[in-house]
Amino acid sequence: MSRIVLFENIHASAKEVFTAAGFDDVVTHTGALSGPALLEALQGAEVVGIRSRTQLDQDVLSRLSELRAIGCFCIGTNQVDLETAALQGVPVFNAPFSNTRSVAEMVLGEAILLLRRIPEKNARVHEGFWDKTAEGAYEARGKTLGIIGYGNIGTQVGILAEALGMRVLYHDIDTKLPLGNAHATTSLKKFLGQADVVTLHVPGGRETANLIDAEAIAAMRPGSILINASRGTVVDITALHRALKSGHLSGAAIDVFPTEPKSRDEALDSPLRGMHNVILTPHIGGSTQESQENIGREVAEKLKLYLNSGTTKGAVNFPEISYHEQAGTARVIHVHQNVPGAMGALSNLMGEFGLNIVSQQLQTRGKIGYAITDVDGEVTEEVIEGLRHHPITIRCDRV
Ligand code: NAI
Repeated sequence: MSRIVLFENIHASAKEVFTAAGFDDVVTHTGALSGPALLEALQGAEVVGIRSRTQLDQDVLSRLSELRAIGCFCIGTNQVDLETAALQGVPVFNAPFSNTRSVAEMVLGEAILLLRRIPEKNARVHEGFWDKTAEGAYEARGKTLGIIGYGNIGTQVGILAEALGMRVLYHDIDTKLPLGNAHATTSLKKFLGQADVVTLHVPGGRETANLIDAEAIAAMRPGSILINASRGTVVDITALHRALKSGHLSGAAIDVFPTEPKSRDEALDSPLRGMHNVILTPHIGGSTQESQENIGREVAEKLKLYLNSGTTKGAVNFPEISYHEQAGTARVIHVHQNVPGAMGALSNLMGEFGLNIVSQQLQTRGKIGYAITDVDGEVTEEVIEGLRHHPITIRCDRV
């Protein structure tokens, strides 16, 4: 039975999934380990679960001959050498969707607070002032929310905002079906001129770098609000700072920054610090107890499915094969070099071992090919060893 080793206080929901599926050999560590301590903890591990602080680099991976799969119980996967893992026949899974609701709720909460100027009022009362006034304070009902990037998070923000009585506009580079009564807009400039609150939910990277620059900010309505809980590179912070100081924008909520502190001891370097009409948060849009629980379950389910059926749907570094029922008497998973004749060699070998192929699925990605083969016949340990010893084979298991 597979040994599963989990680091970094992964939520108990993960272990629950494994235990319910009959995987009892689950070892948990509260922290991240490195160097010899990490290697020691990984002795005999077939599945490893980490969050963002455990580094699985080429050196570590090359020492883990029994490793079958890696789960990143988070969104990012750059703490793992994905290429090396793939070349070792090890798929890597993550949880891209589990925290989307948490981001959507935070954004909506911030929109309400900023429309009422609560951050400023809160700061003033703490300082000993009692500015009891309705000036510049608005209800969310009837206001227009502009969503840029109508994906997993953007759509949820739209639905929640409509429940509050807001009018929802969205702008996306792809054609997206509107949910609720949301309206799509094609011209970003026109869109910016109509929204009371603009919220960003696009991916990072070169395509969206400085999407909200000085020109875009100038196109926003006077007195409007900007919220960014997507990626720090999307907004030109200097231009935003200027617009907030001039009063062109009445407030902002920023969760992500072009350069973020690397640890809790480092301070954020930003001109927005100290501005009472700006909510600053340390990239916690997706950080809730519920999202941690969902992440635990989402990644553990993917790992369980891989161990039980070879399914690699959602793997970030591997050819993806969706779940399908097993046919025949046994299922063999085979990772091989993506070269001409690989499948012929696999089929011939299986024939030589007396196995009749009843169903087969193949996908390739880069240098590797991945085949799930259902057979009639007896798949003994000798058969698996025989398949493993062929020069094209990277790894082979019976599931
Ligand atoms: P998604 O991939 O589901 O949606 C992104 C949408 O943006 C897609 O519909 C895409 O077509 C659209 N898009 C891409 N380029 C665009 C452009 N130039 N203009 C307009 N639309 C464009 O992504 P998801 O899951 O909704 O995440 C959105 C962002 O939120 C990502 O940047 C993600 O990294 C970030 N995020 C932040 C968290 C936090 O803690 N603050 C937590 C989770 C995600």
